[in-house]
Amino acid sequence: MIELKNIVKSYGEKEVLNIESLKISRGKICGIMGPSGAGKSTLLRIINGLEKPTSGSIYFDGKKVSFPPELSLRRRMTMVFQKPVLFSTTVYNNVIYGLKVRGRENRQKVLQAIEFVGLKGMEKRNALSLSGGEAQRIALARAIVLEPELLLLDEPTANLDPANVEIIENLLLELNSKKNTTILIVTHNIFQAKRISEEVVFMKNGFVIEKGPTNKVFSRPSASQTAAFIKGEMIF
Ligand SMILES: Nc1ncnc2c1ncn2[C@@H]1O[C@H](COP(=O)(O)OP(=O)(O)OP(=O)(O)O)[C@@H](O)[C@H]1O
Ligand SMILES: [Mg+2]
Repeated sequence: MIELKNIVKSYGEKEVLNIESLKISRGKICGIMGPSGAGKSTLLRIINGLEKPTSGSIYFDGKKVSFPPELSLRRRMTMVFQKPVLFSTTVYNNVIYGLKVRGRENRQKVLQAIEFVGLKGMEKRNALSLSGGEAQRIALARAIVLEPELLLLDEPTANLDPANVEIIENLLLELNSKKNTTILIVTHNIFQAKRISEEVVFMKNGFVIEKGPTNKVFSRPSASQTAAFIKGEMIF
């Protein structure tokens, strides 16, 4: 679905991403792991077309992506940020926002999305009054309601308690199996990567150190750095 070739991203003198080749397959859940500062969020922002790579190319279904990407392409993917940004209005208005922009307002879908993330009844609450975990779930509802082909998630469960983590993980699995949504999920949590992703990418210092089927990477990592990360020996 997505292919990156020789993607480099630098901020000033500092190179934060250097990916020779990375392919993301359609219909899978792919986990992106790696220590803090590895470039995980930067990678998602570049795939989403929010940032221009310093050099290199991205292909979507084999077609080279321009910068900024065409609107029609942007609308096939949605990103949920590490720090969810909600507007100071009702939960309902927050969730319907993207549909409105696209001229596809649909009350039923909004209510379904809110129910899907387990927050039915909170439609009229001001979004800024939500707890961190609730806000993260509303940000997810806002993304899901758009029915994207590709969902980019940057640590969507970082602020949640275990019960809510399970709710979100099940929801992502359901979305993937029922709607065939391709999901790229950044997670610090190796157990989460193990639980929900079919493939994993391990990044460090801007490089993709390893990518492969989750079972294989966890049972027989080919890089010593991946092995150290999995064993919890790597500080992050
Ligand atoms: N706008 C920016 N200007 C300068 N440096 C940046 C900018 N955005 C990111 N960086 C740097 O790029 C590197 C990679 O950042 P990124 O946010 O992608 O890491 P990450 O893997 O998502 O880390 P974390 O797990 O802490 O979220 C970091 O060293 C960060 O300081
Ligand atoms: Mg990050």
